Amino acid sequence: MKVSISKSVKNEKKYAQCVVMAKSAFGKSAYAKLCKPFGFEGEGKFFLQESRILVVCVDELESDCLRESGANIVRYFKGLPYEGVNVSIEGKIDNKKAYALLLGALCGEYECMSYKSKTKANALKEFVLVEQKTSLDSSIVTKAEIIAQSVNATRELINTIPQVATPKYLAKYAKGLSKELDKIECKILDESLLEKEKMGAFLAVNRASCNPPRLIHLSYKPKGATKRVVLVGKGLTYDCGGLSLKPADFMVTMKADKSGGCAVMEIVRAIARLGANVEVHSIVGAAENMIGGNAYKPDDVLYSREGKSIEVRNTDAEGRLVLADCLSYAQDLKPDILIDFATLTGACVVALGEYTSGIMGHNDKLKLEFEKIALDSGELMACLPFNRHLKKLIESKIADVCNVGSSRYGGAISAGLFLSEFIRDEYKDKWLHIDIAGPAYVEKEWDINPSGASGAGVRAGIEFILTQAVKG
Ligand code: BES
Ligand code: ZN
Ligand code: ZN
Repeated sequence: MKVSISKSVKNEKKYAQCVVMAKSAFGKSAYAKLCKPFGFEGEGKFFLQESRILVVCVDELESDCLRESGANIVRYFKGLPYEGVNVSIEGKIDNKKAYALLLGALCGEYECMSYKSKTKANALKEFVLVEQKTSLDSSIVTKAEIIAQSVNATRELINTIPQVATPKYLAKYAKGLSKELDKIECKILDESLLEKEKMGAFLAVNRASCNPPRLIHLSYKPKGATKRVVLVGKGLTYDCGGLSLKPADFMVTMKADKSGGCAVMEIVRAIARLGANVEVHSIVGAAENMIGGNAYKPDDVLYSREGKSIEVRNTDAEGRLVLADCLSYAQDLKPDILIDFATLTGACVVALGEYTSGIMGHNDKLKLEFEKIALDSGELMACLPFNRHLKKLIESKIADVCNVGSSRYGGAISAGLFLSEFIRDEYKDKWLHIDIAGPAYVEKEWDINPSGASGAGVRAGIEFILTQAVKG
């Protein structure tokens, strides 16, 4: 589907019309009379079949509502025979609001159809935002397209079944991105290179899998870049829990444990396509947490790349082990800012609900800055506070640190504090940990997201990096 901005209505025969307005404006609008006989009074949406007009009422004419209505308009016309829709907004609109609507429309179009034998043909080929009063910047169309393509590609990659999407598959995907865009470089570390790098924690997690692990390093290095941002993503292509096996019901959806890894790769792609003046790296720790005779065990002690020893008490707390070694590798790149994205803990979902990501770190200013940008981008995120009492929970009697906290409370934070053990002092204030366990994969449609993978982290990550470019 194509999105565009036009001063005039496209009067094609097979086009429908749509008007978006604030609920409060409905009563006095010209549509109130037309809708009245059908009992529609401005709550939600109503399609006037004869005149082919979809009336959409939103709480307020602001970005969050407009983004969601963009998605809802496209969803509504899916399966109907219209080839395009002219969308107009009753009221004042600016670039920010128009962008939100277009992005919502493009993200609302995606649905995972790869495993269905019948494909739904989407008749809707064009989404035209008709705007006569203000002159909108045409660059918002390009930006919405680039970002939505990254969001949707992330979703598709996460939704890819674990039988297919192995660590090698993710590495191949990354190589594909660097082939598509000259500006992106791709380096892959296989098992023997991981050994060479002394990534004992990462390697232990993958040991019982018949699929070899990969560390994927994508980079975009524009000339004259003023900042270097390094992203790290948890890329567990499957997490059955290992010997601390997950109960059957909790194992389902664990193909999505690669969400952070998929997101960081697509963030690099979007930033490169947008041509931002920031150097960006993404490091994906791609592994599979399985069971077998050679599996790592609760009671094992692992040696991480940073030199710290780790007592394993639960093999299901595997993401932090992979990330510990990836964060170590990432710090060697001397980042100005280091951010990891991970479906790290169920505790984060308990704490914030399934729609909100948790932001952790030692730098309050950076945390708040990221939170604000995330919320502006349309992603729900909230800061979770570290404290010295929870830090004690990951002390180990026999090793330097333990991979799980001794209390079941505060699990999202103790996981964040575990990662912090592998952040060198000079990078403590440059690092953020984003736990996307809740919103990364939700098995029902919500906001602009379909059932399944949402692409959590992609919009927030891109917008954050773009602000770094402006700052210089
Ligand atoms: N991948 C899971 C976390 C998760 C849970 C992501 C639900 C998405 C939805 C992670 O590896 C895990 O299993 N964490 C454990 C940690 C515990 C053993 C300390 C958890 O959250 O239960
Ligand atoms: Zn796990
Ligand atoms: Zn996991």
